Amino acid sequence: MFDLPVLNSSASESGLYPVSDVANHVNAARKLYVETYGCLMNTNDSEIVKGIMHTSGYAMTDKPDDADVILLNTCAIRDNAEKKIHERLKHLKFYKRRRGDLVVGILGCMAERMREELVVQKNIVDLVIGPDEYRALPDLVEKAFGGEKGIAVKLSRVETYDDIEPLRTEGISAWISIMRGCDKFCTFCVVPFTRGRERSRAAHLIVDETKRLWDAGFREITLLGQNVNSYEDEAARTDFADLLRATARAVPEMRIRYTTSHPYDMSDKLIETMAEFDNICKYIHLPVQSGSDRVLEAMNRNYTVEHYKERLHKIKELMPGCALTTDIIVGFPTETEEEHQMTLELMREIRYDGAFMFKYSPRERTKAWKMEDDVSEDVKTRRLNEIIEQQQRIATEINQTLVGTVEKVLVEGEGRRDATKWKGRTDTNKFVMFPHLTDEANGQTAGYVVGDMVNVRITKATSMTLVGEVVA
Ligand code: SAH
Ligand code: SF4
Ligand code: F3S
Repeated sequence: MFDLPVLNSSASESGLYPVSDVANHVNAARKLYVETYGCLMNTNDSEIVKGIMHTSGYAMTDKPDDADVILLNTCAIRDNAEKKIHERLKHLKFYKRRRGDLVVGILGCMAERMREELVVQKNIVDLVIGPDEYRALPDLVEKAFGGEKGIAVKLSRVETYDDIEPLRTEGISAWISIMRGCDKFCTFCVVPFTRGRERSRAAHLIVDETKRLWDAGFREITLLGQNVNSYEDEAARTDFADLLRATARAVPEMRIRYTTSHPYDMSDKLIETMAEFDNICKYIHLPVQSGSDRVLEAMNRNYTVEHYKERLHKIKELMPGCALTTDIIVGFPTETEEEHQMTLELMREIRYDGAFMFKYSPRERTKAWKMEDDVSEDVKTRRLNEIIEQQQRIATEINQTLVGTVEKVLVEGEGRRDATKWKGRTDTNKFVMFPHLTDEANGQTAGYVVGDMVNVRITKATSMTLVGEVVA
C-alpha cells in the first residue's frame, strides 16, 4: 500500500510532504500502521491521521508486524461492518500479547460504541478516538506508550482538518473531503450520530489543494461528502456547483469526480455545471434506496420516485452518456412484497450501470431502530438476491453495448491479479483492464505510464469489468 514510488517521490519533491521531515524521521521513528474500513471518507480520514502522525515524527508501515502503533479506522454503517472489526480485534490481541509495548487504537465511526466495551470491560485496546478528535492522536498515543488509556469521542461542529495535509500514498487518484457529517437523518442511518453535524470546508482551500495535487502528479480527484449537494461555503457564497466549476477551471486537465449526491437537492445548476466541463466525469452515484414512495417517506428521504425520475430525465437530457449508479436497501421495516416489486421495477426502468445493494440492518440511536425489524432474514436474503441477479443482468447488457467502442481511460496502475495488464477507469467510472503493450506484430509499443490518458477499444465486457486494447 505504501510502495508506490512514483507518487511518494513526486509528492515529496513538489513540497507536499516536506522532504526534510521524511528524512529526519525515517530511522528513529516509531512506525504506524493504519487499517481502514468503510467509505471513502474514512479512507481520506486515514490519510489525515497519517498526515498528523507523520508531522509528529511517525514513519508509516504497511505491515502490522512491523508497527509500534496499530490503528483501525472503523465503520458502523451495518451490523456486518462492525462484526468485521470485532473479528479483526481478536487477531490483534495476539499481536499485543507478543509485544507488550504495542499500542492499539480504534478510530472512526465505531468509536462512540466501542469505548465502554473495549477499553473499560475487555481491555483490548489502548485508545478510542472519534472522527473529530484526530488532532489529539499524537498526544494520546504518547500517553498510551506510558500505559495510560485514552478516550476522545466528542463530535465537533467546526472541525474540518482544513490545515492538515493528508498523507496520500496511493495511486494517481486523490480523495478530498469537502465536508464532514450529515444533517439528513435518514431513519435507517447511523452516520449523523457517528460523524455529527454537517460542516463544509472553505472553497478556496479545496481549489488550492486540487492545484497542489496536480503539481504532485495526481491526475484525478474525487470530492467527498455524505451529501455533497448541500456543500456550502457561506462566507464565499459558494455552493457545490460553484465549487465544482472552480476546481474544474483551476486545473482543466484534472479528472474530477464527486460522491455522494442526495436526490433531494440534485440541482439543475449542478447538472448544468457537470455538462459544461469536459474534465468533470460523466458519472453520478445517486442512491434511490427504494422504489416505493411510502418506504421512502418512512426512510425520511424527502423525495418521491417521481422527483427522482425527473432528476434523471434532466441528467440524461444534458448528458446522454452519463453513467448512473445507486444504493438500495431491501427489507426496511414494513416493506411489503409489492413494495419490493416496485424497487425491482424501478431498477428495470432506470437500468443502472451499477448498484450497491444491502439488507436493512437496524442501528442503535436511529429512528428506525425503534421500529420492529419485521422483514425476516430469509425474506431479506431472497429480496436481495432478486435485485442483485436482475442488476447483474442489466449491467452486463449495458457493458456489452460498449464492445467495439473506444473509451478514454486513465492508466491507474498494474492489475492486482495480472501484472501484465494495466488497470484504469473510463470517464463513466467503469473499470477496464488492458495489456501493457499494443500488439508487437504491427510494430507498435506503447510508451504510456501511470497517469496517462489512453484510448482503449473495448473487446469484452462483464457486469463489473471491461477488457480492451490500446489504440492510437
Ligand atoms: N450518504 C449517502 C450514503 C452513505 S451510506 C447517501 O445518503 O446516499 C451508504 C449506503 O449504505 C446508503 O446509501 C444505504 O443504502 C446503506 N445503508 C445505510 N444505513 C444502512 C442500514 N442501517 N442498513 C442497510 N443499509 C444501510
Ligand atoms: Fe446517512 Fe442519509 Fe446522511 Fe446518507 S444522507 S449519510 S443515508 S443520513
Ligand atoms: Fe461507515 Fe462511517 Fe463511512 S459509518 S460508511 S465509515 S461515515
